[in-house]
Amino acid sequence: MQLPEFFEYRDGQLYIEGCELSELAREYGTPLYVYSASAIKTAYERYRTAFERAGLDATICYAVKANSNIHILRMLHELGAGADVVSGGELYLARAARVTPEKIVFAGVGKTAAEIDYALRENILAFNVESAGELHLIKNRASKQGKTGVGISLRVRPEVSAGGHHYITTGAADSKFGLSFAEVHELARELKNSPTLKLRGLHVHIGSQMRGVTPILEAVRRVVGLATEIGGELEYLDIGGGVGVNYAGEPDEPNLPDALASGIAKIFRETGRTYPLLVEPGRYLVAMSGALLTEVLYLKESGETRFAVVDAGMNDLLRPALYGAVHPVVSLAEGVSNTAYKIVGPVCESGDFLSERAELPTLEAGAGLAILGAGAYGFSMASNYNSRSRPAEVLVNGNNVTLIRRRETLYSLLKEQLVNIDVEI
Ligand SMILES: Cc1ncc(COP(=O)(O)O)c(C=O)c1O
Repeated sequence: MQLPEFFEYRDGQLYIEGCELSELAREYGTPLYVYSASAIKTAYERYRTAFERAGLDATICYAVKANSNIHILRMLHELGAGADVVSGGELYLARAARVTPEKIVFAGVGKTAAEIDYALRENILAFNVESAGELHLIKNRASKQGKTGVGISLRVRPEVSAGGHHYITTGAADSKFGLSFAEVHELARELKNSPTLKLRGLHVHIGSQMRGVTPILEAVRRVVGLATEIGGELEYLDIGGGVGVNYAGEPDEPNLPDALASGIAKIFRETGRTYPLLVEPGRYLVAMSGALLTEVLYLKESGETRFAVVDAGMNDLLRPALYGAVHPVVSLAEGVSNTAYKIVGPVCESGDFLSERAELPTLEAGAGLAILGAGAYGFSMASNYNSRSRPAEVLVNGNNVTLIRRRETLYSLLKEQLVNIDVEI
């Protein structure tokens, strides 16, 4: 297995950029999320230059849900990114990171009136609208605020399957996301006569972790056709995210952003239609930058299975339990991988595993492990299940280490619960 860029063994120890991971584990404790700033910058530049090389005008609106730590949002903002948000909370974090409202789009099937009011006050670029009811509520709330020309993108359900796990497929005919072609036509007609709302673009996002770009290109082709039918001047097409990463570290990874951008340029050439683009990568920008560090607590055998029980659980990294996602696990101390372990956490669920099978050097209690590819949908999906405090996060840039989120304390489990504590703790 090839380690992700910016991770390597030096003198028998695993490093992220200029820092030894076992030292970070000692200093900040485990479980611990560690991210490489250089990996994020490199992924961002790869995505950006792919579109530039293809001669496309593309604005990157980072999908905040992938990793919403404000230090990472700020870094991406400084690189030039806008934001794709799906809640008032994400909008708040994006604004706190100083992302300009003209580069913020707001998707999601269940926007509340309060969230709509907030986004209207912030003057974001567009609401990516997912139902007629939502469009009417936005119109209503915008009128109450005396707004005109509020930006709208209609999210299309292109009836293209993204493949992969059905939980992360969002473009199929029976999906809860987006509008049918007929609904888009109808709402586009309605918008033509609205001074309050302005149809800016069409939006499509068909799923996540796609390891080939054919489904995205098919969706884009359909949306270009739809845009042509609608007529009028759309300011852009928003083609969503979904470009996958190489979790397993297979060599000869194809350059997916390049394939996506050149494929879109080809569609534009073939159809004779060209649009500025918004793109919403999440996973691609941050997944491979991150590792979740954990310590082996116990080793045990049950039937044929050799378990390593570690101090990180499904509450810290949900992807294996939720999607059956496979994350490579490596030892912080280099060694010959000669033993297969199932890596499980302390949570009281049989679904609490981090790896079904990891080939590792023979482990002892106290050994340090790194779960790789944990930068996206890792901490952002973490919870307090089993009343476990969520981990700390650290950002590494060369030899510099910044603690970007403190580990939660025991008191953080209690502090929002309205209770007088009359016991000594
Ligand atoms: C609307 C929208 N845009 C972008 C993304 C980001 O997807 P990915 O992380 O696969 O790039 C998502 C993820 O669910 C999404 O729902």
